[in-house]
Amino acid sequence: MAEPRLAVQELTKRFGGLLAVDRCSFEVEAGSVVGLIGPNGSGKSTVFNCITNLLRADGGKVLHDGAPLGGLALHEVARRGIGRTFQEVKIFRELTVWENLSLAALGRRLVDWQPRAKSLMADFKFSHLEHETGENLSIGQQRLLEVSMQLLVQPDLLLLDEPLAGVHPVVRDTIAGIIRHERSAGRAILLIEHDMRFVMDLCDRVVVMDHGEKIADGPPAEIRANEKVIEALLGASHAKDQAKH
Ligand SMILES: Nc1ncnc2c1ncn2[C@@H]1O[C@H](COP(=O)(O)OP(=O)(O)OP(=O)(O)O)[C@@H](O)[C@H]1O
Ligand SMILES: [Mg+2]
Repeated sequence: MAEPRLAVQELTKRFGGLLAVDRCSFEVEAGSVVGLIGPNGSGKSTVFNCITNLLRADGGKVLHDGAPLGGLALHEVARRGIGRTFQEVKIFRELTVWENLSLAALGRRLVDWQPRAKSLMADFKFSHLEHETGENLSIGQQRLLEVSMQLLVQPDLLLLDEPLAGVHPVVRDTIAGIIRHERSAGRAILLIEHDMRFVMDLCDRVVVMDHGEKIADGPPAEIRANEKVIEALLGASHAKDQAKH
């Protein structure tokens, strides 16, 4: 059988006394979308940071098409074909949309990337913003720009950290379309998102984390009916409601 596009094996990350990720294992196949969900602080973004080597894991392994990513520099991970967006959008706010795309292309040493950049802008409906600076874009437009900067290189694994946060419903549909399109092109997508409807509609499988541990992994219908998951997710929102009162 072919290697999964991404295999996370017994991944562990500590911050001082806090076990943020606790022997977490899961896989993402090529041509599939896997959701990574769980309450705030359950370790989801830390998993992304360890996969991409932004943080160094304390234990476990991450394999991309069977090859370990451990020890690679950030730019080497990106050049392997792994794209990643951030929970807090990372673009150059003082630069224009086109300059942001240019820097992304330069960073990956792309040549003849301009036609692809133009077609991404057209597909995601922000061509008219080409000369606008990042700080003048809405959050949704910033997220589309950030995704485009990643898609310029046609990564075969895309990690999206809460792509819908702060985004207008129209842009949400665009983002859903991008994810579906990338999946049909054979790419693997790992998606962190709190919007359960979006996750359940879009994902082929869902991995659930709680306090750094994986507590469930399966198709959406199974996850929706899983008592442990319901308790972890509802427990967290109950706690939040109570904190408000
Ligand atoms: N760089 C860091 N230094 C210290 N603690 C951290 C660091 N990054 C994350 N943590 C802690 O690790 C735990 C997991 O955080 P993480 O950001 O991975 O959660 P998350 O599941 O992405 O949450 P959210 O849904 O709120 O984004 C939290 O308790 C967080 O405070
Ligand atoms: Mg997070």
